Amino acid sequence: MIRSIEELPIEGKRLFVRVDFNVPLDKNGNVKDDARIRAALPTIVHAVRRGAKVILASHLGRPDGKRVPALSLEPAGARLSQLLGKDVIFADDCVGDGVRKLVAEMKEGQVLLLENLRFRPEEEANDDDFSRQLASLADVYVDDAFGTVHRAHASTVGMVKYVAQKGAGFLVATELKHLQPLLKGAAKPYLAILGGAKVSDKIKVIDQLLSRVDGLLIGGAMAYTFLSARGVPVGASRVEKDKIETARRILERSKVEVSLPIDHVVAREPKGGVPVETVAQIPEGMLGLDIGPRTRALYREKIVGAKTIFWNGPMGLFEVQEYAAGTREVAEALAEATRRGARTVVGGGDSAAAIAEMGLADKVTHVSTGGGASLEFLEGRELPGLKVLQETASPPAAEPRRRSP
Ligand code: 3PG
Repeated sequence: MIRSIEELPIEGKRLFVRVDFNVPLDKNGNVKDDARIRAALPTIVHAVRRGAKVILASHLGRPDGKRVPALSLEPAGARLSQLLGKDVIFADDCVGDGVRKLVAEMKEGQVLLLENLRFRPEEEANDDDFSRQLASLADVYVDDAFGTVHRAHASTVGMVKYVAQKGAGFLVATELKHLQPLLKGAAKPYLAILGGAKVSDKIKVIDQLLSRVDGLLIGGAMAYTFLSARGVPVGASRVEKDKIETARRILERSKVEVSLPIDHVVAREPKGGVPVETVAQIPEGMLGLDIGPRTRALYREKIVGAKTIFWNGPMGLFEVQEYAAGTREVAEALAEATRRGARTVVGGGDSAAAIAEMGLADKVTHVSTGGGASLEFLEGRELPGLKVLQETASPPAAEPRRRSP
């Protein structure tokens, strides 16, 4: 059992909340997509209302243990402050005397955001001394960063054993509520749609999903590796040559139908503004960049007929308008399936960005804030950031013993 923030004694306490503010920034350094910040609001607002001293910590990007000004969390703090309608104190580090002083001066209901944890190499190294320093800031620990529960870092694992009270926030609880049914007891037909560039990123999840789903639809560049494994010519499309054998094994062993694109949108270069064709077979020298109209219709039919659907990875190079139709069709079909009562879950990363861009994010059951984390969860793996909350869950405070009369 993982305790919920609602069960933890946070009133007047220093509450350390690990959030995932790993958000995209635009070229002016402002937050481009604040979905992950918004998703953490229920926990933050709850903690503020309960009078906790709320200390937020996150990573942003992969600065590799160095201070990279372009990856400061300050813009995320500014956005959070707008969303909360209250000041957010910003600390220019995540440990040290300055941070200790700021925490000591905090009043109940105030919010403090620490600087990017990954500016310190000790974070990803899960260093024990650093973990203790983080833990010394807190009376209560809450993990609300589902996007990083698959990482065994100081702020997600190392520090947890040094804080007496611990649990999960509302975002993590919501993710588990929507993802757990995909592992067990999903309504059938259960369909998975996988896209994106690399087969290698998805092999483990494909293996796991094939034992649970009734069908798998494949799109994106990884489809060309699978088509190569079936002996279908793919022209100059992106293929992971060293994964063709794995793809062949997956196709041979699968007991359920694995659908691959039957037509394609192709061009000579992977960019907009060049001549584009729709073909059933990719000619020499041409690159497959999206699924074609017949594939779109086929995939749509399968999606709207399913009762449970998990989607991860775009169907083509959707950032370029000419190659966005396949991804849009899948997103629209998912919305249609949801209207018809299906449980539809979109794994984070590119597919979450795509469905948000198409204005359909609120038309599906759940869009996960976790990219890698949602895939590892569906692999059925034990995720370190969740395990540590379970293992060390403190028992509820003992009831005072009744005196015998
Ligand atoms: C994500 O964006 O999926 C999470 O924030 C984790 O980021 P990471 O892959 O850099 O650990």
